Amino acid sequence: MMQQQTQIAPLLTNILVSETHDLFVSKTVQNQGSTVNSFDSDVPRILVVDDHAASRMTAVALLAMEGYQVIEADSGYTAIKLVIQKQPDLILLDVMMPEMDGYQVCELLKQNEHTRLIPVIFITALNDRRSRIRGIETGADDFLTKPFDRVELAARVKSLITQKRLNEDLDHAEQVLFSIARAIESRDPNTGNHCERLVHLGKTFGEHLNLTRNQIRDLMWGGFLHDIGKVGIPDAVLLKKGKFTAEEWDIMKQHVLIGEKICQPLRSMRGVIPIIRHHHERWDGSGYPDGLIKDDIPYLAQVFQVIDIFDALINERPYKRAFTPEEALAVMVDETAKGWRNPKLMQQFIEFICCFKDWQLSPS
Ligand SMILES: [Fe+2]
Repeated sequence: MMQQQTQIAPLLTNILVSETHDLFVSKTVQNQGSTVNSFDSDVPRILVVDDHAASRMTAVALLAMEGYQVIEADSGYTAIKLVIQKQPDLILLDVMMPEMDGYQVCELLKQNEHTRLIPVIFITALNDRRSRIRGIETGADDFLTKPFDRVELAARVKSLITQKRLNEDLDHAEQVLFSIARAIESRDPNTGNHCERLVHLGKTFGEHLNLTRNQIRDLMWGGFLHDIGKVGIPDAVLLKKGKFTAEEWDIMKQHVLIGEKICQPLRSMRGVIPIIRHHHERWDGSGYPDGLIKDDIPYLAQVFQVIDIFDALINERPYKRAFTPEEALAVMVDETAKGWRNPKLMQQFIEFICCFKDWQLSPS
């Protein structure tokens, strides 16, 4: 995968700077008396990519009859440029094209954060099993064979565009959660940019531990979302300057459960929820909310807790000055000796802080 990405990155740069391939954009075609207005907002835009003018025009005509906005590209390079400029809702992509074939185009788009949600339908020859397998490997969403069947084309296109819009809504739902988390952070002026620093620490410490890409993403998301449940904690408790009463402390502890409830409906949050629920557990079982012991505590919650505490210690709070990294580590070592943290993980964290300078970089 890494190798593919390193090959593809310069390719994308070349496409973006190349002046040798002029844009080939058809006049946007759209039949006003369309059947497509069952989509409740803008008319979806489809990019048809094929180096053969005749077959491209057939697809364009059929889609225009369905009421879609249609744009055209006669090469892979042009297709990439048009995707960036026009952000189509779906791409109908020919496999065999000179210079840059359909597989390369699809691979490039599916690896890019901004274009990965655009559905790609490959146009293949009938029963071309090898092309289909290769297409699946590069991230194709569906296949159609030539000559096109109008009804089949319309049904596949409509279903994929509907799916894409649902996926976009999911992305928007995630964005809403991040906005709530940011609003909570600004409600509590004592923490400064705690969340952003945690995202950066999560990434660098996660890489140091050789965690997977998904685990590192979950740690980074945890940086933003771990205290999202504080949205349900009254100001009188959240912003209280003095010590909590037992009753206030019970209210405060609820933030991990409220946070879990907020994020539970989103499938994409599955990896972050254990961090949200368990980031106040302790190795010896004296934490909350479940009093989990040792490795019953989800590993990412253990990792997250270490960076959360370290960041709190090295920054100023109303009740304490900012500790130096050495002082903070000394406090954490004491707490580990008391049985509160995973000793092995704590050792790895000390190595990380002492040996790697990049944890100090300000978050980008
Ligand atoms: Fe918390």
